[in-house]
Amino acid sequence: MSAWPVHAKISGPIVLVGFGSIGKGVLPLIERHFDFDRSRFVVVDPSDADRALADERGIEFVKAGLTRDNYKEVLGPLLTRGEGQGFCVNVSVDTSSLDIMRFSREVGALYIDTVVEPWPGFYFDSRLGSDARTNYALRETVLAERRANPGGTTAVSCCGANPGMVSWFVKRALVNLAHDLGDRQPQPTTREEWGELARRLGVKGIHIAERDTQRAIHPKPRNVFVNTWSVEGFVSEGMQPAELGWGTHEKWKPANAGTHRSGCGAAIYLNQPGANTRVRSWCPTPGAQYGFLVTHNESISIADYLTVRDQWGNAVYRPTCHYAYHPSDDAVLSLHEMFGAAGRVQPRHHILTEHEIEDGVDELGVLLYGHGKNAYWYGSQLSVEETRRIAPYQNATGLQVTSAVLAGMVYALENPALGIIEADEMDYRRCLEIQSPYLGPLVGHYTDWTPLDGRPGFFPEDIDTSDPWQFRNILVR
Ligand SMILES: NC(=O)c1ccc[n+]([C@@H]2O[C@H](COP(=O)([O-])OP(=O)(O)OC[C@H]3O[C@@H](n4cnc5c(N)ncnc54)[C@H](O)[C@@H]3O)[C@@H](O)[C@H]2O)c1
Repeated sequence: MSAWPVHAKISGPIVLVGFGSIGKGVLPLIERHFDFDRSRFVVVDPSDADRALADERGIEFVKAGLTRDNYKEVLGPLLTRGEGQGFCVNVSVDTSSLDIMRFSREVGALYIDTVVEPWPGFYFDSRLGSDARTNYALRETVLAERRANPGGTTAVSCCGANPGMVSWFVKRALVNLAHDLGDRQPQPTTREEWGELARRLGVKGIHIAERDTQRAIHPKPRNVFVNTWSVEGFVSEGMQPAELGWGTHEKWKPANAGTHRSGCGAAIYLNQPGANTRVRSWCPTPGAQYGFLVTHNESISIADYLTVRDQWGNAVYRPTCHYAYHPSDDAVLSLHEMFGAAGRVQPRHHILTEHEIEDGVDELGVLLYGHGKNAYWYGSQLSVEETRRIAPYQNATGLQVTSAVLAGMVYALENPALGIIEADEMDYRRCLEIQSPYLGPLVGHYTDWTPLDGRPGFFPEDIDTSDPWQFRNILVR
């Protein structure tokens, strides 16, 4: 085995909350790349299905589910025992990211998560209106916490593959595009300059464009939801309203679109579940494809980050930004089955392990469109074969996430007093430097595809031929 670079020292305890597909996958990366005290590494999860992985390493396993009532009691002693600064790595479902983040900072521990997760009940609370069930609303709670308690111990919000790594891809793609379009201005260093660059280049929008071709050895049985990562996580976000960062170039809005009365104002939502909302998009391997417009934090944070405002604070430029996710074929079938049953989720859930996958690649990148070279995809093409070779206990989807967590942890350790930060605000070069060995080929592709290709076909369509890159042309209706 090669010698892995040790990127940083974790001087205090490590508390890994959640030992599902991401928790198990991040464990060996933490072991490889940090100098830490194994006797103060603890895993917390209500399910001990995989505790053997912790036991065989001499890592403590606490079989407990965090709740609103017990999280301080459980985490407090674990995060503060002994000398040094603790690190809370939260990759669980059904826990409040905000509460755990706030508490970690209160006790001086670094913190990272991969999603703004609420306590159970939120996603399926029929008393909440659609706007209250959005990621916009969840993200605003984190932004409010940051305004109330600026600075202090670093807590990295939403640092997985997406949300997370794709924000770093957007910056790299903008830099590549600037080069190829002959823009010779210095590389941006501030949020304002990144927004200006995107505007100067004429980027109308960004898809987080993903195609997961990982193929199960055994086809999906009926009444089982099969996915390549958390079923619970995917069903929860898939049943939230579709959401997208809303670009200043858009001339049309769906009739069921809603806007928010407070907050950053960067996004709208549709009154329909994201996982039942299709958009036209493009990835290098399939070319044109349908993706699901599942809500994600990065759709809002990227659009917000790149917004250019005039002196009165009005948005004068913002790209449209949303997820266009073609999950694994079994997950597509699982959604079809679930929505066919009026949204009733299957009684059995299954996450495909790397050993249950025949072959395939998770092709995850960002598609910057509407500029002088039409559209540019930049991203990772990580195969399950390569994943098996380079890291245990995970498939390609998992490794794209866990390696982003690794990069975020290193960044937090190198910058321990930044307060609450999002991936958009991190140094993308440093983060990708750490993460890249785990991402397979990182490639950029130009395409002349637009969502108007081949349209209208046999049937009349409501399209805008004056601008192919209108959301009107992208949304499948
Ligand atoms: N940003 C990204 O790219 C990205 C990608 C994948 C997953 N995620 C997120 O990461 C999280 C974990 O994903 P996963 O695929 O490992 O999910 P998973 O379903 O495989 O595992 C979740 C784990 O959380 C545990 N858990 C449940 N309730 C808990 C509680 N009250 N306290 C502590 N632990 C609890 C479960 O027992 C389970 O082991 C999810 O929130 C998911 O949305 C983010």
